[in-house]
Amino acid sequence: MQYTHPQGHVFYRKMGFARPKISHGEGIYLFDDTGKRYIDGSGGPLVVNVGHGRTEVVEAIAKQAQAVAYAHAIMFTSEPAEQFSAELAKIVPLPDARFYYLSSGSEVVEAAIKLARQIQMARGENCRHLIISRWRSYHGMSLGALSVSGKLGMRQPFLAMVHDMPHIAPPYPYRDPVSGAEAANRLESAILAAGQMNVAAFIAEPISGASLGAMAPTDDYWPRIREICDQYGVLFIADEVLVGMGRTGKWWGLQHWNVQPDIMVTSKGLAGGYFPLGFVAAKGSDVEQIRQTLGDFNHGGTFSHHAVGTAAGLATLRIMQAENLVENAANMGAYLGQQLHQTLGDHPNVGDIRGCGLFWALEIVQDRVTKEPFPVTRHMAWDIWKRAFDLGLVAYYSQGCADGTNGDLVMLGPPLIVNREQVDEIVQLLATAVHAELGR
Ligand SMILES: Cc1ncc(COP(=O)(O)O)c(C=O)c1O
Repeated sequence: MQYTHPQGHVFYRKMGFARPKISHGEGIYLFDDTGKRYIDGSGGPLVVNVGHGRTEVVEAIAKQAQAVAYAHAIMFTSEPAEQFSAELAKIVPLPDARFYYLSSGSEVVEAAIKLARQIQMARGENCRHLIISRWRSYHGMSLGALSVSGKLGMRQPFLAMVHDMPHIAPPYPYRDPVSGAEAANRLESAILAAGQMNVAAFIAEPISGASLGAMAPTDDYWPRIREICDQYGVLFIADEVLVGMGRTGKWWGLQHWNVQPDIMVTSKGLAGGYFPLGFVAAKGSDVEQIRQTLGDFNHGGTFSHHAVGTAAGLATLRIMQAENLVENAANMGAYLGQQLHQTLGDHPNVGDIRGCGLFWALEIVQDRVTKEPFPVTRHMAWDIWKRAFDLGLVAYYSQGCADGTNGDLVMLGPPLIVNREQVDEIVQLLATAVHAELGR
């Protein structure tokens, strides 16, 4: 394969990888400028919900940009921001939901942290400033979001710069088979250790994203978390950045347990990759209390509530609804899981196959019995990912799931428009990559 060499004036996160130049996309496919076709098996990091090249979204963007691309949200509202919010309020499980839009997952997590603090202040709970989170989680790249993230490798160089927020162990049934309630009680211990009067909120991914690879807790986890948050006056922020917007076969990951958060954030698939967009959502009563008590929401964002972004989000949502893509995610996801189990379930290095809707992960191990991971220096997840990429399948990968440093995950999250034949091809390509790297 021909790669563009990393010689120009752009630098990227993964610096040694001479990446091909993207040309265009169509449906679940991407094409580079040599004409090579890739199946977009993960939509990058789970972004491309309605597929590539959707004219409806492109036209909505063009129409809004022509009418007016930008007007500062401190001075104007816009029709798409109002309409999109009215539509979202029907599917977001928060009473009288209110939305604040920003441009990425990290930004909406930052906003959620500040919102939690201000909801507590509006309630007269001025000491509450700590946000408890979980190890082996990811909430974003900015220093505030990183301070609540639990991904060691990404935190390490900046430890002296991030706020030392309390972290608890995540539920990880594959490696830590305690009951969900027991795993949830770690939150209670952390609240008591930090002092109840200091804790503003708990933030967590309803189904773990890239750090633990589609790891869902057992059914008693989220109800117990909700109970603990209520008991101690701690707000629960659901980070649905990756698993929200239909990805797991329901609109929101937490709906698998019928548990409601106090604050919700989402991003990635919200505008299907057509525009960088995310929101933080809160209950109307909490927003109203801030207005009455504090006057304003103390936050900012030059590009907040972007008219073009919310127009893209609205067009994406309409496609999701018209084409029943949440239902398709549930159906095709079940089929994808079944095919993965059938094709790779017996492989000696595939320790676990787990997933929900159209988000699936393989946890790769040295030994299925002991679950011993490969050392991080072996770069196993990357090597499998790279084989798949060369074969024309774009998957997603991460390292560190097993103990914070070691542990390899290869993940799939195709566009929610995917069909059975395409699922078959994705699984066949991934299996070919695994066999090429690890034998049969
Ligand atoms: C659960 C979760 N929260 C937050 C983020 C940060 O989002 P972004 O990369 O858009 O800043 C991510 C990104 O991977 C994520 O998976």
